[in-house]
Amino acid sequence: MISPILCRSPRVTIVGAGRVGSTLAQRIAEKNLADVVLLDIVEGMPQGLALDLMEARGIELHHRQIIGTNDYADTSDSEIVVITAGIPRKPGMSRDDLLKINAKIVVEAAKSAIAHSPNAIFIVVTNPLDVMTYLAWEATGLPRHRVMGMAGVLDSARFETFIALELGVLPADVKAMVLGSHGDLMVPLSRYATVNGIPITELLDSATIARLVERTRNGGAEIVELMRTGGAFFAPASAASVMVESILLNQSRLLPVATYLQGEYGLDDVVIGVPCRLGCGGIEKVLELHLTDGEGEALQMSAQSVRNNINRAQEILNG
Ligand code: LAC
Repeated sequence: MISPILCRSPRVTIVGAGRVGSTLAQRIAEKNLADVVLLDIVEGMPQGLALDLMEARGIELHHRQIIGTNDYADTSDSEIVVITAGIPRKPGMSRDDLLKINAKIVVEAAKSAIAHSPNAIFIVVTNPLDVMTYLAWEATGLPRHRVMGMAGVLDSARFETFIALELGVLPADVKAMVLGSHGDLMVPLSRYATVNGIPITELLDSATIARLVERTRNGGAEIVELMRTGGAFFAPASAASVMVESILLNQSRLLPVATYLQGEYGLDDVVIGVPCRLGCGGIEKVLELHLTDGEGEALQMSAQSVRNNINRAQEILNG
């Protein structure tokens, strides 16, 4: 007789089985990082997606369990909870237009998930990202290192892609950091962007860099305009999976992460993207970079718009 399995694999719950959530489930399982619980309010949908993903396991050569459910009880004791639930942007809609609808969805999801996974680390993906991360942090009552938002990894990946396309080099050789809010006021730091250590300012003229920065700022909207029936999901899922991986494998990667600031960068009681070290405890360190006056001002403006939307969201939730 083979004895029963006593150990449990790490478990990641994904709330919201839309295109980002389901693609993230696929990435996590196929990277062999953890078992996945995919939860949605639509009956049958997460169950169907989970079964579909399970049926690919023999071909993809992994053995991760993927469970689809409508019941938070099935998410119990997750190491990580990723919140993707909410409505996506439609053409012409800004991320902030989503505020009203998604605030209630995210607060509800965060409260339900923490009740079943009190030790989890939370990653928020729902837009408007920085505001939703703040609301999830507030709703869970967790310390700030355990609630964060995914945006900077995606925005940086877009900036890196556009630099790589412009120069005709391997995207993985390009490194860049985009800080600030996930929106029109994000702050791509061109000064720190390099191709294998060579600053892009050595390789591209300032007008070209300005064009690539602008395309990065509009990266999400560009895809919404093209697709017309929703927004990006492959790259957002890849970006979220990188954060999940750094936490589960304790990689201590230094990534741009939306985090609750307590005085860093002269900002307080607001969530915004800054460089953080991500390991098994969540955010292990918030790195304070020296910014130029222009970059600092851009970050302040970005934070101010998030702050205004946090106030609006709190009015909506309390009213
Ligand atoms: C984007 C959405 C996910 O930037 O915010 O594509």
